[in-house]
Amino acid sequence: MGKKDHVCRVLGIVGSPRRGGNTETMVDEVLAGAAEAGAPTEKVILSKLDVGPCRACDACRKTGKCVQQDGLPALLEQMDQSQVWVLGTPVYYWGPTAQFKAFVDRWYSTEHQVTPKSVEFEGKRVILAIPLGGADHDARHTVGMIEDALAYKGVELFATVVASGVERKGAVRERPNVLAAARQAGRDAVEK
Ligand SMILES: Cc1cc2nc3c(=O)[nH]c(=O)nc-3n(C[C@H](O)[C@H](O)[C@H](O)COP(=O)(O)O)c2cc1C
Repeated sequence: MGKKDHVCRVLGIVGSPRRGGNTETMVDEVLAGAAEAGAPTEKVILSKLDVGPCRACDACRKTGKCVQQDGLPALLEQMDQSQVWVLGTPVYYWGPTAQFKAFVDRWYSTEHQVTPKSVEFEGKRVILAIPLGGADHDARHTVGMIEDALAYKGVELFATVVASGVERKGAVRERPNVLAAARQAGRDAVEK
């Protein structure tokens, strides 16, 4: 990943609908670390992308393509062109946001795609950024769900940054340790 002859692109995917909130702040911090390490970075906001939930029509099993030509295909292309993904979601009722879960469920269509695949999961590196109002323990299902989904897809989980006890918008800005961990994870994902 840190090889000089390969450009390591880093894509931040924000699963919170609250713009400028704790998730976006954490994702920004990871991206800033990656940029310090010399990587080009991009960021997308899922709630602005129109990524609908999987309809379980299973058309992708026959055609290798999802029938929903919404915001997902372009996002998958961006993901394919990036080597590191920063996945951010707050905890909503012990799980990820609806926007984030819809996005993950749509990975289903990529399992049946014929070559060339729209996105290659294997070999990617992921950093998770997860804020929540409650305690660390309350993030366990959200972190666990994403960990298992990534393992299933053959993706390396490089780092997980959880910010517990941050309820209001901007609260994570008062947590220098969390911001430093996020920035370091971004730097390390590019350099190591
Ligand atoms: C609909 C909703 C459900 C929430 N559920 C939980 C929860 O189950 N546990 C928790 O610790 N915090 C919960 N929270 C608080 C958020 O996780 C917290 O405010 C987080 O920092 C929001 O991140 P954001 O600013 O990026 O949107 C919830 C917030 C909302 C709006």
